[in-house]
Amino acid sequence: MRRSLRSAKLLCRLWVAIAALLTGTIWLWSSSSLVLLGTYRVQDFSVNELWRTADSNGWRASSAPRTYWPPPPTESESNGYLRVRCNGGLTQQRTAICNAVVVARIMNATLVLPELDTNSFWHDESGFVGTYDVPHFIKTLKYDVRIVMSLPKITAQGKTKKLKAYKIEPPRDAPVTWYKTTALEKIRNYGAIYLTPFAHRLAEEIDDPELQRLRCRVNYHALQFKPNIRKTSSDIVNNLRSEGHFMSIHLRFELDMLAYAGCIDIFTPEEQEILLKYRKEHFAEKKLVYRERRIIGKCPLTPEEVGLIIRAMGFDNTTRIYLASGKLFGGERFMKPFKAMFPRLENHSMVGSGKLEENIQGLAGSAVDYMVCLLSDIFIPTYDGPSNFANNLMGHRLYHGFRTTITPNRKALAPIFMDMEEGHASGYEERIRQVMLSTRFGAPHRRIHPESFYTNSWPECFCQMKARNQADQCPLNNVNDVLESQFHSTGEASVAVSAKR
Ligand SMILES: *[C@@H]1O[C@H](CO)[C@@H](O)[C@H](O)[C@H]1NC(C)=O
Ligand SMILES: *[C@@H]1O[C@H](CO)[C@@H](O)[C@H](O)[C@H]1NC(C)=O
Ligand SMILES: *[C@@H]1O[C@H](CO)[C@@H](O)[C@H](O)[C@H]1NC(C)=O
Repeated sequence: MRRSLRSAKLLCRLWVAIAALLTGTIWLWSSSSLVLLGTYRVQDFSVNELWRTADSNGWRASSAPRTYWPPPPTESESNGYLRVRCNGGLTQQRTAICNAVVVARIMNATLVLPELDTNSFWHDESGFVGTYDVPHFIKTLKYDVRIVMSLPKITAQGKTKKLKAYKIEPPRDAPVTWYKTTALEKIRNYGAIYLTPFAHRLAEEIDDPELQRLRCRVNYHALQFKPNIRKTSSDIVNNLRSEGHFMSIHLRFELDMLAYAGCIDIFTPEEQEILLKYRKEHFAEKKLVYRERRIIGKCPLTPEEVGLIIRAMGFDNTTRIYLASGKLFGGERFMKPFKAMFPRLENHSMVGSGKLEENIQGLAGSAVDYMVCLLSDIFIPTYDGPSNFANNLMGHRLYHGFRTTITPNRKALAPIFMDMEEGHASGYEERIRQVMLSTRFGAPHRRIHPESFYTNSWPECFCQMKARNQADQCPLNNVNDVLESQFHSTGEASVAVSAKR
C-alpha cells in the first residue's frame, strides 16, 4: 500500500524525534499523530507517483476456486433453464450478468444466454451477441455453469414448441435462500423460469467466498467485449499513450444524473425546467434544496470543479485527459473553464471517421469508454451511485493490477467550493490538496458497507503467495487442470450411470 508505506516511513522518522524528546513515554497511535502526518504528506506529495499503479503489498488478483468446486450439472441433472432480462446501462447489465451466472450455479440450473435490455436507455439493438464475445463467455465459464443460446424445443402431445419459462420478478437484492426455495420450486415445476427485470436482484454480500469469486470470474474474465470494440479501444489507448501517461475522467454531468441529484440552481431557468420535468417523470417526489444537497456531497461535480481538483493536486496543463461521458448537460458553457485548464482533452470520437463513430454509439460506445477508462493510468470518477459505470470500473481497475483511482470526496470538497463562490478563495488549492491526499488511490483495502462488492472485491478475489491466513493463500498453479479433470471424470461417470440405468 503506497500510502501506508509512506506513512510507515514518516512514522519511523517521527518515532525517532519523539523518542528523543519523550524517552520512556509510550506513544500511542492517536488522532494527533494522524494530523501531523497529514500535513507532512501534503508537502512530501509528488503527483508523479500517481501515474504508477498502487503498491499491492503482496496481493494479486485471483478468482479461481480455492476449495472443491464440482462441475456444473449435466443436462439430465439440471434443475431447469434460467432466463434473465438485464435492464439498465452497460455496467448495470454487466453486474446483472454476473449475478445471473451465480444464480444459475446456486440453483443447479442451465443458463440461457442473458438478454440485455437494449431498447430502453441506449436505443440500441446490439444486445449480448453484439457487445460481448459469446464463445469466450461460454468457454470461460464451462467449469461453473452450463450455458445455452436459447430455450430448447419440447414435444408435447405430438407438437413441437419452445419451452415456456415461468415469469417471476425477484425481490431486490434477494438472498441466496430465495433462489434455493421460491425460485427453485418454480424452476422444478415449470422446467424454466424467466427473471425480469433482473438488475440488483441478488444480494451483494454473500457468505460464500467461492460464489463471490465466481462473480469475479464472470466480470473480469468471461465478459470480454467483441473484437471490434477492443480494437477501437486499443487504438484510442495507443494514440493517447504515444506521448506518455494519460488519465480518464468519467464526467457524470448528464441530464438523468443531475435531475436525480436535484442540484439545479446553477442552470438557466430553461435548463431547470428540463431537469425538473425529467425528475418528475422518473423519480419519486422529494424536496431538494441545492445548498443542503451539496453540503452532504450529493451534487455531481461540475467540469470546472473537476478541473480545479486536478490542478490543485499538481497536474499541469500538458496532462492528457480522456473524457468518458454521455451527453453533457448545459453544453459547452460548462466545459469551457475545464478546457481552459486542461486543453489536451479527448473523447471516443478521436479515432476513425464518421462510420466508426456510428458504430460506437449506444452500448458499444459505452463499452469503448469502459475499456479506455480501464486501461488508463489514472481514473477519476466524479459521481458514484449504486452499481454504475464508475463503481464497476473502480473494482475492475483494482483487479487489473491496482491501477490508480482518484476519488474526490465531494462532501469534504463542497465547503471549499462554496467558500470560493462567496469570494473566499485564498488558500483553496492547499485545502483541496489536503482533502484529496486523504483519499484512497487504488491500493487493496477492506470493503466497508455500503461499498459494493463490484467496487471492491478484496479480499475474496485476491490472494497472497505467502499468506498468513490460509483463506488468502493463492491457489495452486494447476487449478485449471484439476477442474478440467473433474469436468471429464463426472461427464464419464454420468454417462456410465445412465448406461447402467
Ligand atoms: C446442486 O448440486 C450440488 C452438487 O451435486 C448439490 O450439493 C446441491 O445440493 C444442489 N443444489 C440444488 C439447489 O439443487
Ligand atoms: C500551459 O501553461 C503555461 C503557463 O504555465 C503556458 O505558458 C502554456 O501556454 C500553457 N499551455 C497550453 C497548451 O495551454
Ligand atoms: C468529443 O470531442 C469532439 C471534438 O473535440 C466534440 O465535438 C464532441 O462534442 C465531444 N463529444 C462528447 C460526447 O463530449
